[in-house]
Formats: sequence, C-alpha cells, structure tokens
Amino acid sequence: MSDTPVPAAPSSAAAPKSMDAIMALCKRRGFVFQASDIYGGINGFWDYGPLGAQLKKNLRDAWWQDMVMNPAWGRKGPGGERVRCVPLETCIIQHPKVWEASGHLAGFADPMRKCPGCGHFVRADQYWDTIAQWSEWFNSLLQEYEPSVEGTQHPRINAERLFKWARGKGKRAAPNLALVRTPEVVLSFVAERIASQPASPPDLKEMTQYFGTAQPGATGLQQPCPRCGAPLGEPAPFKLMFETYAGLTQSEDNRVYLRPETAQGVFLHFKNVVDSTRVRVPFGIGNTGRSFRNEITPRNLTYRSREFEQAELEFFCHPDESMAWYTFWRDFRMDWWKSLGLAGENLILREHAKDELSHYSMGTSDVEYRFPFTAPGFGELEGIAHRGCYDLTQHQTHSKVKLDYFDTTRGETLPNGGKKGERYMPHCIEPAAGLDRGALALICEGYTVDPSRPSPEILKLHPRVAPIKAAVFPLMDKDGMPEVAEKLTDDLFAKFGKSGFIESDAKQSIGKRYARMDEAGCPFCFTIDGDTLKDQTVTVRDRDTGKQERIGIDKVSGYLGERLG
Ligand code: GAP
Repeated sequence: MSDTPVPAAPSSAAAPKSMDAIMALCKRRGFVFQASDIYGGINGFWDYGPLGAQLKKNLRDAWWQDMVMNPAWGRKGPGGERVRCVPLETCIIQHPKVWEASGHLAGFADPMRKCPGCGHFVRADQYWDTIAQWSEWFNSLLQEYEPSVEGTQHPRINAERLFKWARGKGKRAAPNLALVRTPEVVLSFVAERIASQPASPPDLKEMTQYFGTAQPGATGLQQPCPRCGAPLGEPAPFKLMFETYAGLTQSEDNRVYLRPETAQGVFLHFKNVVDSTRVRVPFGIGNTGRSFRNEITPRNLTYRSREFEQAELEFFCHPDESMAWYTFWRDFRMDWWKSLGLAGENLILREHAKDELSHYSMGTSDVEYRFPFTAPGFGELEGIAHRGCYDLTQHQTHSKVKLDYFDTTRGETLPNGGKKGERYMPHCIEPAAGLDRGALALICEGYTVDPSRPSPEILKLHPRVAPIKAAVFPLMDKDGMPEVAEKLTDDLFAKFGKSGFIESDAKQSIGKRYARMDEAGCPFCFTIDGDTLKDQTVTVRDRDTGKQERIGIDKVSGYLGERLG
C-alpha cells in the first residue's frame, strides 16, 4: 500500500519528535539494540545496551520500591489503612492447565486473514481500519456531481482519475485488485450502482467490494487484500502464545507455553502467600518478569515486541471495598508515572467504556502516553483493571483447590467482642505496567532538541532513572586535576553507584564531554579545574539548563543526594 494515497495525518499543535532520531540516539549511545543485530535482526525482539539495561533496571527498582516495599509512597488506603504488599517471582513456563483456566488458551488469539496473493496477514477485526487508508482517494473518485431533473445533485464517478490510478500507482500498489486488472468492468458496476440509487452513493465498504473482485464480471463480494488486492482468505485464529516442549519427547503431552503475562503466576500462589506470611486481605502481590506474545505486527521499537517485561501488582481486597481500591490504584499509578517525568499533556488516564470491558471486569483504566508514533493520539503504558474474582475462581474450578479466604476481621460481632469471620473470594485490582514501554516513554519524553546548544540533542531523563548519575571531569589531564577527579569519582561511586554509573573522562574538550553526557541523559557534571586545587570548589553543570555554579568539593555528595530522588 505504500504508493496508495493515504489521508494526511491530522495536524497537532506541537510537531511530534522524530522517532528516527530517537532510535538513532538509542543505538549510538547504547540504550537499545536490535536483537541478533549482526544476523540482520529478528523482528519483534530487542536487547538493551549498557545504558538501556541500567535505565530499565532503575525503572524496575522504582516500581519495586514504590509498589512493593513502600507501596503507594506510604499513602493510606481508602479505609485509612496502611497498604501492604509482598513480592513474588514466578516461572515463565507453568502447567498448561494454567492457561486453560485463565482463558488464554481459548481466547488469546487474534482472528487473521491471509492473502493468498502476497502472503500478507490482516487482522480480521482491523480490516476496515486498514482499508480506510484508501478513503481519501476513494472520496476523490466520487468528487463530481451532476444536477438531476429535480434540481438535486447526484454523485458521478470520476472515471478519468480512476483510470489514471489503475494504470499508474495502482499497478504497483495493488496489482491483483479488480480495479487495476479490469477498470472498465469495475467502472460499469459502480456507474450502474450510482445510477440506480443516486440518493445514497456507495460508501467505502461497498466500493471495496467492487474494487476487489478478482473475477471480471462477478459482483465482487470478496474483500481485497489491502496490500496487493487479491481476495483475502477466511478469518482463522492466530495464537499469540509461544509454544515449546518440556521433556524428552516433543509430543502433545509435553506441550507447554511461554507465559503471555506475569499475573497468572500470582493467582496460583495466592493461598501459599497467605499461608506462609502474615499478610491479610487487603494486600497486594507484586511480580515482575518477561512475558511473551507472538505479536502479529511488532513495531515501534520496544513498544510492541514479542518478548517484553511486565511489572504487575495483584491487589486482593473484599468485594465491597474493591471499587475504592480500584480508584486508589488508578490514581496512584498516574501520579507515579508523573513522578518519573512523564508530566503534562503527554500523559492521560483513559477510563474504558462499558462495552470495552471484559465480562468480569467492573472497571479498567489505561495510563496512556503520547509517543511520537502515536501522536496526536496516545498509546497504552499501563492498564489498571478491576478483575473481580474471575482469576481466583477460575483457578479454583480448574485445580479443584479452594482459593477463597476466611477473613477473621469481618462478620457478626461475638459476645466476646471478636468477629465471627466471613468467607469470600477476594476481588483483585491489577495495575499492570510494561517496563519496556515505560523505558521507551521516558526516552521519548526526555529526548529534546535545543538548537541553541552546540550539540543540540539532550536526553532529559529524570535523575531517579538516569543510568549515569553524574560525571566527573578534570578540566585538563595534568596539574593534579585527574587525581582529584579520580578521588571524587570513587567517593560518588561508593555512595550512588548502586543505581547508576559515575563517569569519569579526561579526553576531548570540556564542551564535547558535556555534550556526550547530555545525550546519555546524565543529569550533573562536576568539573575539577585550576581553582579546585586552590579553593576546594568544583563547577557543577546542570544538563537541562546548561547552567554552571561553583560548590565546595565536600558538598558534592550532598548536592547529588538531594537531587537524585
Ligand atoms: N495482566 C494483564 C495484562 O497483561 P496487558 O494490557 O495485556 O495486561 C500490560 O499488558 C502491559 O504490558 C501493557 O500496558 C504494556 O505496557 C505491556 N505490554 C503488553 N503487550 C506488550 C508488547 N507486545 N510489547 C511491549 N509491552 C507490552
């Protein structure tokens, strides 16, 4: 379809950042590399370079700290209670029955239509969206009108335009399209149709049938491949779960699946966690790790990949309190992403409409970010779902192990002042974040071009997630400056090295060294110069403003500690 006319992208106030430039920076500075790069790459798989690996680790650590160790920054829950969460680490491969119970085996598949002409796959439910790319061009075909006897305007097909396209661009873009192979036949059908019902001109859906019929003379009920125009095959399910075998024989009995989400591992251990710890409902279980989906159209760097990392919290609560907890987590997750620098108009919380919800869900919201490739629209960063008691009930039914909960704090009050207790199936609120999408959003948000600077590309990463925390530069590689720089580097590394690099560099001009750090997202550079040796002060340079100030060398550690968050 590359040559086919497509509607112009809607205009937005601020031009989106260049994804090509962001991808180039990611490769140049070692944030993201194509997996199996030297073999030409493998579609849908990405590796992280030194800076990307540390950035993602910092994001994971921030999630772990703020969701599991000190959940919701110590905010009180809806009933004024302390929020309690514990961690868990579960396997990528689980018993196949897990995916039967969760519904993934039956339902985790997209209906796909294959084109017998060019082998292209189209998602059946997105067929008309794909075809919609033709709509502007189609409208131009119906652009002419002629007055009728009664004085009204009737549409007329613009035959000249139609033939021009069929003989030119159409031949390359959609060679099997009936419109290209037999434009006269198509034109006669359309003309006949317009003449017979002038009051209701055909829409794109109807016209597609005329365009697409591969058999001259047929009425054209088969829908054409949006890429080449050949009639598409019938929809067939395309399984999104990767399969492999566990054991010596590669037989059906040994078939297992790579998990498509980390969440299910948590439901399996709900009872084990309750029995082995002192947590009581309401409480959450956090789980991070790799998930796998054989995405049909992986794209946009790590945004939609086939192997990715999730950070999911399953928060269990009493059904009566579940809506309050849903609101609590939804609001906190939005605040959390903002705290890492995704502020302002690029971040929205989108509440799903009732007809978008799964049958068991009482509410779902997405935290969405305006990526350069979705602008002016937004792309999902995290989903916060009220899953009801669906998962625990499903696993209880399939495993035949009771997973309900006996709550000793509820029920009637007994004469001794205690409670009779209540047995129930907890409801679950699930904030489910993608760490790769998160890291990508941080990179996209931080990527800034400032033409007023000698090296205009800057990566304004929040200091908490920045992979390089600070750089220490001797202005010159002599006169005792390198030694002072090395000592300061060692001191800072001892204090801050667990969450990022402390860079030290004595080569090249100081301007070039600053520019290198700007591109790598390093928030602060400290420079040792001739004055340092006299008055024990250093220059500190702020990445975002480029401003410099002098502080005592003994104040550097405190200065950095205050700002790294
Ligand atoms: N347990 C619920 C669940 O997995 P999801 O919306 O399918 O929900 C949660 O996934 C998050 O995982 C998404 O918001 C997204 O950030 C990330 N994610 C999902 N599919 C992805 C993919 N193919 N590539 C990268 N990230 C993905």
